[in-house]
Amino acid sequence: MKPPAIVLDCDTGIDDALAILDFTGRGGQILAAGSVHGNVPAPIGARNTLRVLEIAGLEGVPVSVGAARPLAQPLMTAEHVHGDDGLGNTNQPPPGRSVEPGSAAENLLRIAHQRPGEFTLVAIGPLTNLALALLLDPELPSLIPEVVVMGGAVSVAGNVSPTAEANIWHDPEAAQLVIEAKWKVTMVSLDATMQALLTPPDLEAIRTATSARAQFAWAILDHYLDVYQQWLPGRTCPLHDPLALALVLNPELATYRSLSTQVELRGGTRGTTVCDLRVDPANPKSDPAEGWRNVRFLDQLDVERFRALFLEGVIGG
Ligand code: RIB
Ligand code: CA
Repeated sequence: MKPPAIVLDCDTGIDDALAILDFTGRGGQILAAGSVHGNVPAPIGARNTLRVLEIAGLEGVPVSVGAARPLAQPLMTAEHVHGDDGLGNTNQPPPGRSVEPGSAAENLLRIAHQRPGEFTLVAIGPLTNLALALLLDPELPSLIPEVVVMGGAVSVAGNVSPTAEANIWHDPEAAQLVIEAKWKVTMVSLDATMQALLTPPDLEAIRTATSARAQFAWAILDHYLDVYQQWLPGRTCPLHDPLALALVLNPELATYRSLSTQVELRGGTRGTTVCDLRVDPANPKSDPAEGWRNVRFLDQLDVERFRALFLEGVIGG
């Protein structure tokens, strides 16, 4: 079977980098990538994406720079989590090629019109580029059947505020535009990704592997593991973005439920995904109230199988 093809929107970032290594290491095809502000400023995210693709041996994937800041709030970045360079302060050499002309939103529109219905759009950073593309072309959802977003927190704590997850919190207005658009949205929220933790044997397998991708993964993981030691017991970290991309290759890793959802735009809970948990997930309302949309979230996740596949992809040959 042909491997699934995606257009990737990312804020590369340690876990974004791991996601790209795993997805491409297991045959996933990235048609194009766009960077967005988030973990680091968008130009740095693009440079990191080019570098990770180089490690993966994929120097033909076009990468463009996207939105420099959110729609309606100032730029906030997360170097305290991902390092000053976004790749765990590993001082990577500059990539051997440059970004594409044009912005990530414009290039997303172009490829969607060239290849209607042919790819899944996967966003593992704030949703500003997707929102800009929707504002430029409201018919975009007719060209892209499915969008997978790493973001949100339904019934667990947030990771940037008591209730908000980082990718949604970085641009709540953009996130609301994306869930209101008429495409099928799957959100891989913290409820699932905080179960997808690397174990000591997983880390040992990556540390001792000799492939270029595994050695790169090990180098960038060190900083991430140090950071997560503040929040999690032992030396481990969640695989937020890798889980989102893995589900494109292996949707059977999880069961899903549909929940009527909106993004909180005001007050101390700004950036929170609010879900109507009263709705029977087996029979979602076909027409949720104004401003609410049915979004697919994970229900049960096969964590063991996901971790085994992740190791295959990252260690590779
Ligand atoms: O909340 C986790 C998300 O925020 C991941 O995409 C991570 O890379 C950061 O962007
Ligand atoms: Ca990310």
